[in-house]
Amino acid sequence: MPAISPNTKILLDGGDPNETLRVKSLLGFLDGQTTNPTYVSKNPEVQRRIASGHKLSWEEQKQEYKDIVSKISPLVGSAGVSIEVFADFDTSAEQMLAQGQEMFAWIPNAYIKYPCIREGLRAAKMSIERNLRVNMTLCFSQSQAAAVYAATKGSREPVYVSPFVGRLDDRGDAGMQVVRNIKKMFEPGDGHVHVLAASLRSTDHLLYSFALGVELATAPAKVMEQWAASKFRLPDESFRYVPLDKNHNPLRPIPHKELDLNAPWESFDLKHELTDKGIKRFVEDYKSTLAPAA
Ligand code: E4P
Repeated sequence: MPAISPNTKILLDGGDPNETLRVKSLLGFLDGQTTNPTYVSKNPEVQRRIASGHKLSWEEQKQEYKDIVSKISPLVGSAGVSIEVFADFDTSAEQMLAQGQEMFAWIPNAYIKYPCIREGLRAAKMSIERNLRVNMTLCFSQSQAAAVYAATKGSREPVYVSPFVGRLDDRGDAGMQVVRNIKKMFEPGDGHVHVLAASLRSTDHLLYSFALGVELATAPAKVMEQWAASKFRLPDESFRYVPLDKNHNPLRPIPHKELDLNAPWESFDLKHELTDKGIKRFVEDYKSTLAPAA
C-alpha cells in the first residue's frame, strides 16, 4: 500500500470487476474506475459468450455493461465509475443524452462519458442541466478542453475532462504536454472542470500526472502493477519528466495556447483526427460483439 497517497485520485482503466478487485487489493484503495466500449468488448464474460458462439443483441450488450459497472460500483471510492455512451458520427446529442440518463440510473456513482465532439458537448450541456455527472472523453487538445469548460459552466458536480496521453505519444506528439497545458489554462478558472489524465502507458506518465497536480488519473492494471513494483513511488523535487517515444526519441512539443475560457463553447476548435479515430475504434469494438442482425 502506498505510504503517502498522492493528491491525485487514482482510477483503474478497465472493464473486468475481478481485475478491479485485484488492483484494489494491490493498492489498498481505488478511487474510481473508467470503462469504455473496448474494455467492455474484452470483458471475460462477454468474451466467453462470444467464444461459445453467442453474439449479443443490443439489449444483451447493454445488460452486460450494466452488470459490469454494477459489480465495480461498490468497489471504488469517490471518483466513481465512468460509463461510456455509444456514439458514432450520426448519433445526436439527444440520443446520447437518452443513453446517458439510462446509464446514470444503473449505479449511484456513475459519470457519463461523452466524446469531445459537437454533439457530445451538447449532450454534456443538457446532462449537467439535469444534474448528471459527466466525463468528457477522447480529448486530444487544449481547445477541446476549453470547450468542455465553457459548455459546462454552472455544473453542480465536478465535470471530468480526459486528455488521452498515450495515443498522442503513439503518433509522436508529447501527450503529457496537453495535460500540462490544460491544467495551466484552468488555473484562473472556477475549478468546475477536473482534469483526468487518461490513456496512460507508463509509471512516468502517472508520476508526471501527480507532479502536475491533476485531480484524477486513470491507468490500466499493467501500469498499476508497475507502480506497485516501484513501491508506489511519488515524484520528489528530483523528478523530471522527459517526453520520449518507445525508442527514446524526443516527442514533438505541444505549446500552450492563450484561450479565453469565457468565450462561447461553439467558438473553440473541436476537430482532432484522433478524436475521430477514437470514435471509429470504439464503434468497431462495440459492434464486434454484436450479432449481425443487431
Ligand atoms: C479513458 O477513459 C479511456 O478508457 C482510456 O484511458 C483509453 O486508453 P487507451 O489509449 O489505452 O485505449
